[in-house]
Amino acid sequence: MATKKIQVISHDEVDHPTHELALSVLEGLSNRPKSLPSRLFYDDVGSDLFRQIMKLDEYYPTRCEAEILEKQGSKILSHLKETNFNLVELGCGDGAKTILLLKNILEQNKSLKYVPLDISKAAVESLLENLEAEFNELPFDVQGLVAEYFQGLTWLTENVAQRNLVLFLGSNIGNFNRPMALRFLRHLWHSLNDGDLVLIGFDLKKDLDVLYDAYNDKKGITKKFNFNVLDRINQTLGGNFDCSKFQHQGLYNIQSGAMESYLISQEEQIVHIKELGKDFKFAPWEPIHMEYSYKYLDQDIQFLSRSTGFEILENFTDEKGYFVDSLWKVKK
Ligand code: AVJ
Repeated sequence: MATKKIQVISHDEVDHPTHELALSVLEGLSNRPKSLPSRLFYDDVGSDLFRQIMKLDEYYPTRCEAEILEKQGSKILSHLKETNFNLVELGCGDGAKTILLLKNILEQNKSLKYVPLDISKAAVESLLENLEAEFNELPFDVQGLVAEYFQGLTWLTENVAQRNLVLFLGSNIGNFNRPMALRFLRHLWHSLNDGDLVLIGFDLKKDLDVLYDAYNDKKGITKKFNFNVLDRINQTLGGNFDCSKFQHQGLYNIQSGAMESYLISQEEQIVHIKELGKDFKFAPWEPIHMEYSYKYLDQDIQFLSRSTGFEILENFTDEKGYFVDSLWKVKK
């Protein structure tokens, strides 16, 4: 019988959620230019909107990566010599893509412990439900971890002896600028053992029209996804943002190499946030920066791996050449 456990490692987001939110909003709106951290997108409503984004015709990354995992999953796994290992997924979400990989693994008669790791307990729980719906009897053990990424990985290397394959999919790394990405990867290296593997999803540089459409979809779901952050601030911190006075725009910045999204104040206005006891003044056309989604060249991927102690084993790409899942090995 497969075992199923969830370990909750306490962190600020779980223990003091409103406090965390208040602090990051205060910090962001006091910045010039004003900004809000992109992790604020993912409350329950935002996570649902993101699931809708992943299904949009214009939003290609999810489909490209699903194609890679489905068609090349067994090639990816052939790099893993152990028959017994931990499959760790950082920021697991609902795990739909991982299910594709899990099916490949089971065909190869490998035995694994699946370790979905997410900061949100609701995400880990709903993933477990999806797994049960997909496999009527779970053919592997599941050790859910509710924790911050590195806390979770450290717990894992201290408590579970097997080789690790860590998934960081969906170009989630794209939300980090270069210094933050380097810091993240060094931290990842530090919390793993020599010889462990990581599979990281990178969205590649491509035709600007394709990029533009993916972040400015016709149905306006991406716009709603951005406005939801203002709604969330209104509801949880007693703000009085009026979304109709802001305009959403996703733009490709050639210099930074990122899609950048903004909410732009269309007029002079003052927003009051009760929980912060503060007014925030907006000049006409003043932007709030909401998100970076960095796009990569092959040479960027090489630079990132080399600078942080990893060796690239193989790059896996989709038919269109839009996306790469890059398989790295920890060298200590
Ligand atoms: C989940 C961060 C990879 O940047 O493409 C989708 C989030 N934002 N549409 C991305 C997102 C707008 C997504 N990531």
